[in-house]
Amino acid sequence: MVSSVARIARQIQRLKSERKAVILSHNYQVGPIQDVADFVGDSLELSYKAAATDAEVIVFCGVHFMAETAAILCPTKTVLLPDRSAGCGMSEMISVEDVQALRALHPEAVVICYVNSSAAVKAKSDICCTSSNAAQVVQSIPEDQEIIFIPDQHLGAHVMQQTGRQMILYNGYCPSHVRMMASELSEIISVHPDAPVFAHPECTTPVHLLSDGIFSTSGICTAAQNSQATEIIVATESGILHRLSKENPDKTFIPACSWCDCAHMKVNTLEKVLWSLEEMQYAIVVDPEIAVQARQAIDRMMQMSTPEKEKCLAFMA
Ligand code: 13P
Ligand code: SF4
Repeated sequence: MVSSVARIARQIQRLKSERKAVILSHNYQVGPIQDVADFVGDSLELSYKAAATDAEVIVFCGVHFMAETAAILCPTKTVLLPDRSAGCGMSEMISVEDVQALRALHPEAVVICYVNSSAAVKAKSDICCTSSNAAQVVQSIPEDQEIIFIPDQHLGAHVMQQTGRQMILYNGYCPSHVRMMASELSEIISVHPDAPVFAHPECTTPVHLLSDGIFSTSGICTAAQNSQATEIIVATESGILHRLSKENPDKTFIPACSWCDCAHMKVNTLEKVLWSLEEMQYAIVVDPEIAVQARQAIDRMMQMSTPEKEKCLAFMA
């Protein structure tokens, strides 16, 4: 008997070609969504993929700021988010007024904005970055230039450590990643002493200090594939375990936290992806004036020549 997941997946495939749509999924989406997607990746890869697609419709299985970025990059395409309540706790921690207040205090500073932010906040920033290129973006700013880094204090602290640059950090954070505790991780490490720990930069510094590698979500997938270890501890949202296990059937992945799921990422379901294509909902539309300004900050990042960009383009070719 054909399972209901297979039935829904079949319907999605049929509607996808009717609508000339492409399905992009973030690494944190539930397994059935990743399996039906045309492409699964991290924020940077998904932005390049959205910008390059010739599909007329992009079903963005991720959270609002990611779909908004795709809509800014593809103003002539329809970008759909299967559940419009898929926000991001971190992006909601900073407003345009917060950026303006920081700029008033540091009028000479360059504002680097992590993509996990609203289009309106990006519009008030100078350049964007993602978890995979933040260090290169920081290094592209002249040494004597003051930098304000928004909104993630933990990614910011990690990049300061990587680059040796001092920055003014905003105090935002990811509510899911800060739940990962160094004490819990230490206990897991003591049970699996040979397993390397791969962590996301949104984790706190004590977790970073216990880690063997700190990477974007797709960076964790690459590190896992390249690792000789048969057991790997993963300090990021649990959705990534699906891709990791699929790509590495001979390896065991141990989550560093069993209660750190991103509630926003998890509101998308396979049923909602089908509904999204049936009803062409929810279309993400960005105010054109904000979109033009936000695009400048996004373009500055995407035009930078970084190893991550080359990897994305090679991967997509
Ligand atoms: P990545 O860009 O590493 O996929 O991270 C996005 C994110 O929201 C992590 O919480
Ligand atoms: Fe936002 Fe954290 Fe969810 Fe990523 S995991 S989308 S930063 S709330």
